[in-house]
Amino acid sequence: MRVLLSGGAGYIGVHTAIALLEAGHEVVVVDDMSNSSLEALVRAGEITGAGIPLLVSDIRDEARVRTFVSENAPLDAVIHFAGLKAVGESVADPLRYYDVNIGSAVAVLKLMAAESIPTVVFSSSATVYGQPERLPLVEDSPTGLDLPNPYGKTKRIVEEILADAAAAGPGVRAVALRYFNPVGAHPSGRVGEDPVGVPTNLMPYVARVAVGELERVGIFGDDYPTPDGTGLRDYIHVMDLAAGHVAALENARPGYEVFNLGTGVPISVRQLIAAFGRAARREIPSTVLPRRAGDVAASYCDPAKAWNRWGWRAERSIDDACADAWRWQSRNPQGYRTP
Ligand code: NAD
Ligand code: WQD
Repeated sequence: MRVLLSGGAGYIGVHTAIALLEAGHEVVVVDDMSNSSLEALVRAGEITGAGIPLLVSDIRDEARVRTFVSENAPLDAVIHFAGLKAVGESVADPLRYYDVNIGSAVAVLKLMAAESIPTVVFSSSATVYGQPERLPLVEDSPTGLDLPNPYGKTKRIVEEILADAAAAGPGVRAVALRYFNPVGAHPSGRVGEDPVGVPTNLMPYVARVAVGELERVGIFGDDYPTPDGTGLRDYIHVMDLAAGHVAALENARPGYEVFNLGTGVPISVRQLIAAFGRAARREIPSTVLPRRAGDVAASYCDPAKAWNRWGWRAERSIDDACADAWRWQSRNPQGYRTP
């Protein structure tokens, strides 16, 4: 297949590009580079030995994107990663989040209709489940719009838009992938997560402490009703997640479907810090802080649907993810800007 990756220079996009190329597919990328670096795609090209055509553009720029797509026709599918993902920022600037995240999904669906591209895979998020009523989360666990932040609402709204588009368009194949917590890096240590500024997510924060750039990890609450009192999450290695996209594309059916992409294994904040310490062979200083507003105590999935339908499941452990994240962080302490 030849696949357009919107936001394909970003963290999950570039790992998925590598997985697709290694599985024998071709990729082309549209990315406005607002949260990514050209160097990521250069390295993905070096790792795979493949050329990756790139258009630096907002995916909503219909004229430019259509010209690029015609130049690279025929395309079989779009994986739509492009969007804004900072939860706190979405509370402060909700209109920007609705504008970019919903506008870009609508633009992708219009492009698909105009260029006869049948399949779309969308980066949704476990955040659409909000406060879980029951664990593990399955695809038909309740979701709604009473989510604590606009970011999560944009994911929920785009899922509805995809379902409507698939219902209306004969032959449209739309798959929403609800990612749990993506972590880790490509095992080469050359490609990984490179957040701008101080990371808000746990694993990249711990990585920066391990490398000596930040002093200590703040543990956001140790009084949750969990085995060690800290929050439980389902951390999925980004290369397992990437393989999940390959499986979704290869098995997409007409209509709209949703899949959880996680490991099914709950890991606590303290367990993650300990695993990273083992990988980096050093003590990771930490301190307990108050709970972070909007956090849930526990979020993890039952990944059985993807296994039953596609034969896909996560194969890498939290120790694998920490080892790969550490290789990336220690070799590239300033991310893609490392000299
Ligand atoms: P990322 O920021 O690294 O990647 C997103 C990419 O999209 C970036 O390269 C950015 O430059 C690009 N982009 C943003 N707006 C664009 C636009 N209008 N037009 C073209 N390109 C644009 O983020 P990521 O972690 O790789 O996430 C990819 C997708 O997965 C996002 O939709 C995100 O919401 C979703 N997701 C991420 C996580 C996570 O924890 N990383 C979890 C669940 C879902
Ligand atoms: C994980 C755990 C924190 C940082 C977020 C988004 C979600 C999705 C993935 C896009 C929690 C704790 C964290 C720190 C800590 N993104 N923590 N100290 O909150 O599960 O999910 O990213 O869709 O929408 O909400 O991930 O990595 O921020 O937190 O103790 O410095 O680590 O309380 O228990 P989260 P996270």
